Amino acid sequence: MNIKDLQRLPVGYLNTPLEFMPHLTETMQTGKLYIKRDDMTGIALGGNKARKLDYLVRYAKDNGYTALMTFGGVQTNHGRLTMAAAIKYGLKPILVLKGAKPDYCSGNLILSRLMGADIYFVDTTEAEKVPQEKQDAAKKQFLEECTAKIVAKYEAQGDKVLNIPVGGQGIIGSAGYIQAIPEIMQQMKEQNITARYLVSGYGSTGTFAGLWAGAKYYNAPFEVIGIPIEPDYRTKEETAEFINELSQYYDMGFKCRPEDIHLEIGGAHPYGGVGYNEPDPITQQYIKMLAEQEAIFVDPCYTGKVFHGFIDLLRRGVIPHGENAIMLHTGGAPGLWSKEHLDDMQKQFWSDEENITVLKF
Ligand SMILES: Cc1ncc(COP(=O)(O)O)c(C=O)c1O
Repeated sequence: MNIKDLQRLPVGYLNTPLEFMPHLTETMQTGKLYIKRDDMTGIALGGNKARKLDYLVRYAKDNGYTALMTFGGVQTNHGRLTMAAAIKYGLKPILVLKGAKPDYCSGNLILSRLMGADIYFVDTTEAEKVPQEKQDAAKKQFLEECTAKIVAKYEAQGDKVLNIPVGGQGIIGSAGYIQAIPEIMQQMKEQNITARYLVSGYGSTGTFAGLWAGAKYYNAPFEVIGIPIEPDYRTKEETAEFINELSQYYDMGFKCRPEDIHLEIGGAHPYGGVGYNEPDPITQQYIKMLAEQEAIFVDPCYTGKVFHGFIDLLRRGVIPHGENAIMLHTGGAPGLWSKEHLDDMQKQFWSDEENITVLKF
């Protein structure tokens, strides 16, 4: 199938703003810096997964599915947006979360709760008692058993459940980011922007792989650089293989080698911080930097790390001095209001009195 023939259903908004960041450009004294605002895809507070869901929901509707089920960590943005897409198109929203049920419901979780999603926690805390070498397999097996039970429950009620992988990762979802490339190129033309670099997050990799494939296919004037958002990330080999699957499936006619993929991990302080969704003070500093400079919020799990990488690439000259660059903002700000991050941010942002004045009666 040719990518241009693939049909979508609008879940969020396309043509998200491509904005110049004047203050950050002034501060960094490099080339012109831009941000592509995919945090503004609209639906349910927005984010990158809306673009993937455009194609996933179309697939669900075309194939008679009545429910969307997906997976993620307790604070999954992808889960929030999949639940929103299900609601928008009259499908049943089913969210399977890997982890223990927290005592306090916050951030993305409360948003999914407000949308009335059916929420399941797959809690493998007890699996810690299984011998170390067998733990991963035991957890995986438990998740598979839980998934099968959940699906069977809905099927018994007459539903057909579309099982969407973590992050919306896959051939269908990535179409959203292949097709983001002509949108960005058109905006660059209209706004007279030249940029040789597009910096994006690299998680389940559907976003990065779609961008990479789209940039190659549409002959984009920029290179896509990926910033892994956790210390333990998918290899270039795995991603190249997935990009080649995209190329084959959508008849795009190119090959990607692992060495064609440009990832930047960082040095003494990796951009991915200390772990998946774990609060860290360096990422928090970068969240504050972009908020102070441009009044744009990035998040502690994904985009704060990507922004850290973006700034460091400018400082290190990986993006050469004087070259213009775009950062893709993939959303995630609801994570700022998750309990673990709010609690942790008190230390850095609420423990001193700078710029805070209390005027008492
Ligand atoms: C806000 C945000 N940015 C980036 C990503 C990473 O995107 P991908 O999983 O397509 O690599 C995610 C994934 O959930 C996300 O929620």
